Amino acid sequence: MSRTPLFAGNWKMHKNVKETLEFLEDFLPLAKDIPSEIEIAIFPPFTSLYAAFEKLKGSGIKLGAQNMHWEDKGAFTGEISPPMLKEIPCDYVIIGHSERRQYFAETDDTVNKKVKSAVKYGIVPIICVGESLEQREKGETLSVVLSQVEKAIWEVQIEDGGKLIFAYEPIWAIGTGKVALPSDAQEVIGAIRGKLSQIYGSISQDVRILYGGSVKPDNIKDLMAQPDIDGALVGGASLEAKAFYQIATYNRG
Ligand code: 13P
Repeated sequence: MSRTPLFAGNWKMHKNVKETLEFLEDFLPLAKDIPSEIEIAIFPPFTSLYAAFEKLKGSGIKLGAQNMHWEDKGAFTGEISPPMLKEIPCDYVIIGHSERRQYFAETDDTVNKKVKSAVKYGIVPIICVGESLEQREKGETLSVVLSQVEKAIWEVQIEDGGKLIFAYEPIWAIGTGKVALPSDAQEVIGAIRGKLSQIYGSISQDVRILYGGSVKPDNIKDLMAQPDIDGALVGGASLEAKAFYQIATYNRG
């Protein structure tokens, strides 16, 4: 068993087309030096996806979107469909980020619909789960997170573990500079893998599970030393070419 480490840059609502191209001008020369056993993906806003795709050609860097609707078309003003993402083409889509759950009424049910749709269209979903500070303090972390996991993949059939990715992002760690202790992140991510193995059996060993929340060049190494952490979903630090490169090359000492 081996899971390719993935460093995914979630740009959130940052970088227009011009800024996206400027980032890649800086990042692509650095990225040539990242070994092929490490996978890199960026998640720009929808409006920058096609420009990013053109610029990334031949680089081996993957591309993803930050959200999508579950239907393939229809009267859903302001939404983007899975076939639209396939056309770009996007390899990945982030589903159920806590900011979408918090500000845009995303629920476990809509997350499940989107995950089913992503799998159907062959776009690998990065499914985000994580507890609030209040839930952690009440000792509810594992019950909250495992319930989110179970509901996200309800009736989702996969033939191999590469079809799904999870990201454990404790809400209190996002954008706060308060990274989770590596041992705490491992405890939750190990429990997620345990839940996946109940549902999917041995192929759960091939499902990648990322950590997200205040990942920086100086804390990634200890996180990656944990047996079940397969990479990171990086917010703020992925907006800067050098910091994102340093995260992806964490094992250079
Ligand atoms: P930060 O790395 O800025 O804390 O954001 C994490 C995140 O939400 C990635 O999806």
